[in-house]
Amino acid sequence: MITLKKKFSDSYNFVFNKTVMMRVDLNVPINDDKITDSTRISKIVPTILSLLEQKAKIIIVTHLGRPKGDWNENFSLSILVKEIELLTEKKVLFFKNNIKNVKRQDINEKFKDHDLILLENIRFYAEEEKNEEKFVKKLSSFADIFINECFSCSHRAHASISGVPKFLPSFPGKLLENEILNLKNLFLVKNENEGVAVFGGSKISTKLKLIEFYARRFSKVLVGGAMANTVLYSKGIDIGISLHEKRMSQFCDDLMKEYKEKILLPIDAIVIDKKFKTAPKVKIIEKIDKNEMIVDIGPQSRMLFYNEVLKTNTLLWNGPLGLFEQKPFDEGTDFVLGAVRSNKNKNFFSVAGGGDTIAILNQLNCFNDFSFVSTGGGAFLEFVQGSSMPGLTSLNH
Ligand code: 3PG
Repeated sequence: MITLKKKFSDSYNFVFNKTVMMRVDLNVPINDDKITDSTRISKIVPTILSLLEQKAKIIIVTHLGRPKGDWNENFSLSILVKEIELLTEKKVLFFKNNIKNVKRQDINEKFKDHDLILLENIRFYAEEEKNEEKFVKKLSSFADIFINECFSCSHRAHASISGVPKFLPSFPGKLLENEILNLKNLFLVKNENEGVAVFGGSKISTKLKLIEFYARRFSKVLVGGAMANTVLYSKGIDIGISLHEKRMSQFCDDLMKEYKEKILLPIDAIVIDKKFKTAPKVKIIEKIDKNEMIVDIGPQSRMLFYNEVLKTNTLLWNGPLGLFEQKPFDEGTDFVLGAVRSNKNKNFFSVAGGGDTIAILNQLNCFNDFSFVSTGGGAFLEFVQGSSMPGLTSLNH
């Protein structure tokens, strides 16, 4: 696990009257040309305001979606401008021009009438993801200081994330600092009898290493969602027509042989037919029929998981335990989440993050039950398994 050598407050000695490039992650969800969740914008506001108090001029850099180096208007950041202005109460200039053709003074001039400058989607440039040195130098030439305020994309070795710190004095932002401060608590669990990790979601292929990491370190790993189906299938259990990843069978089998005491799987399930026509039924895992599909964990599994979450001091939660998008198959997740609320252990510390986790916590109104909810998706999963992240290591150079 990385320890950052610099703090956000260290930047105060450098930013006064200077131009700061702030890499943020405003890869926000958008539906019908509307931002459906502005959490990622509101989270960067404290850093922006602190820098403005220091009389810094701020250039905001972010990506949106995966335009793959194409200048694709569907991914334009013009959609963000009003929301940033609203949440910061500052005037934003949207700098649409291709930055490869502009000079520092072209950008700097705009600060006369604006507090913040937002560059167009940085992934419109193919050089961003390739981390091309010429492009990195060009980007760096626009500012004096770099602030990484994008924990959630710090697992990417891109120009605006790990490239620019090679050329500019660089510091973490407040949000990034806070992520690391909280997530590192997971690594303080030294005793194998402590700590519970809950993993759900559909693809075990993306989380196998993570499950193994926590099976080694924590007392229990609870696996639900379609991921659990793959493990059940690898044990030779008939899971009917349930979603699973056949090719991961051998890996799951090896994992279960090594950690059979630690990894808990559902013992019963809510099942339904392929077309969702019949009423949902509760089935013991070994009794699932050929034409049935698992859509949630059953009542006995809920209780089993609940009791583990209730007694732990440290909890890591990632992903839903059932097909949460379709009610009432979010009920299993809801029930087990109730144990987070009811856990009254004095030093109980709970962290959630990654993938669909924020969506399910919002849907079930459980966001505030956790000690900390990470803004990271893929970055969260990398960090919590101790992987090194280019955006973070570059800050220590
Ligand atoms: C995210 O939304 O998790 C980050 O913005 C990273 O996006 P990416 O997976 O497209 O790099």
